[in-house]
Amino acid sequence: MEQNQELLKKRRRTFHYRKEQISDAQLHDLEAYGISVQSEEQPWFFAVIQNQEILNRMAEMTGLDDPFYGAPTLIAAFAKDNAVSAVVDTAFALSSMMNAAVNEGLGTCMIGSLKDLLNHPEHMDLRNLCRVPDGYTCIGSIAIGFPDEEEDLPDHQNTDVFSYIR
Ligand SMILES: Cc1cc2nc3c(=O)[nH]c(=O)nc-3n(C[C@H](O)[C@H](O)[C@H](O)COP(=O)(O)O)c2cc1C
Repeated sequence: MEQNQELLKKRRRTFHYRKEQISDAQLHDLEAYGISVQSEEQPWFFAVIQNQEILNRMAEMTGLDDPFYGAPTLIAAFAKDNAVSAVVDTAFALSSMMNAAVNEGLGTCMIGSLKDLLNHPEHMDLRNLCRVPDGYTCIGSIAIGFPDEEEDLPDHQNTDVFSYIR
């Protein structure tokens, strides 16, 4: 239990990554945890993007300055269009991958900008590059890599978000 709490505390976003690629064993660990979450339908597809040229191209296309923070791996998550709980289940899977990343000594950050690119009809070439099946919509992606430096993050402050019906 204590270990779980420590893990959750460490699961904060990382904005600085080393260039070094994560290992395939680490990647497979994240994948295994990701797809083991509770889900009837398993309504997801994941594109693991580790090609630096393609990452650079995607970063440039967002029009943002350093949108992936130099992370060497991005996992883009796609939810099946005709499924009952696709977005929630796929978000659970991403969250589970982020937990597994902490166990592997890796940092992560949720990245929203890739979603807009991968769902844009003008950029179907990118979707094809990612070999995404038809009938799936990108809901987000996570940047993953070795943290470059310790970041001093403020605690989350707002605890007034619960009501109690007893
Ligand atoms: C759907 C979604 C998309 C996000 N997209 C980005 C993004 O593109 N870039 C970014 O720096 N943070 C993005 N964030 C925010 C970070 O992932 C992170 O939640 C935020 O920095 C707070 O981190 P902390 O809880 O560790 O303080 C996104 C968060 C969510 C939930």
